[in-house]
Amino acid sequence: MNRKYRNTVIAANWKMNMLPSQVKAYAGELKALTAQSKWCDIVVCPSFVMLPAVHKAFRDCRIGTGAQNMSENEKGAFTGEVSAEQLVDLDIHYVILGHSERRQLYGETDLTVNKKVLAALNTNLRPIICVGESLLEREMGVTAERVTLQVKSALSGVPLTKMRRVIIAYEPIWAIGTGKTATSAEAGEVCNNIRAIIRNLYGARTSRAVTILYGGSMNAKNARELLSQPDIDGGLIGSASLSPSEFAQIVDAANQDNA
Ligand code: PGA
Repeated sequence: MNRKYRNTVIAANWKMNMLPSQVKAYAGELKALTAQSKWCDIVVCPSFVMLPAVHKAFRDCRIGTGAQNMSENEKGAFTGEVSAEQLVDLDIHYVILGHSERRQLYGETDLTVNKKVLAALNTNLRPIICVGESLLEREMGVTAERVTLQVKSALSGVPLTKMRRVIIAYEPIWAIGTGKTATSAEAGEVCNNIRAIIRNLYGARTSRAVTILYGGSMNAKNARELLSQPDIDGGLIGSASLSPSEFAQIVDAANQDNA
């Protein structure tokens, strides 16, 4: 991490877990455990139906709320979809876009992700853009190419002035929910490449200011080491975020590394 130039972000991706009736207890515990957190922005991303409850539960502290997806369309006849403007109206500040589960299970393409990124940036939302290679791509030695394509496509048409609001999350697909983590060196190398892509597109100053996260089986045990990589500025955490105490330990690790 390099707090001199950019924010540290520790984000919980609850995926399709937790219940609305569990939000209050979770929030109470997390707030108590992270009250001393100084150096990192904490974000909790629940399913749509829990957004108002999560936002309300964290209203009196600095923990932010994020959605896990949104529509690329502004408004209209899109049954079942949720727009950027609807999220902003709820005072939501973050949205995860292009998660590999959305790409693999719901057919999201680089083009859809790009449209969503542009739609999010047209409002006040901060997109957390997920990129990452499959196991096959890693084994074939095309990780850098795959990630470069995803990052460049996601950022196509994004103006320099909006880049500081963008967060990129490197999540190797083979490490998500599998208990397998990329080594800190592997993860650090890809995050360093992502920063180099941003440098080529937007210049050195902007690339230094963009927050890049690692995600994929990050937990209380491995967080410190992953976060010690200079280009990893935080984490996007799935399974380990479902327990407030484990999630708080990851926040602690981020604070220690920054102190
Ligand atoms: P995981 O999920 O921490 O359970 O691997 C991370 C993610 O998919 O964002």
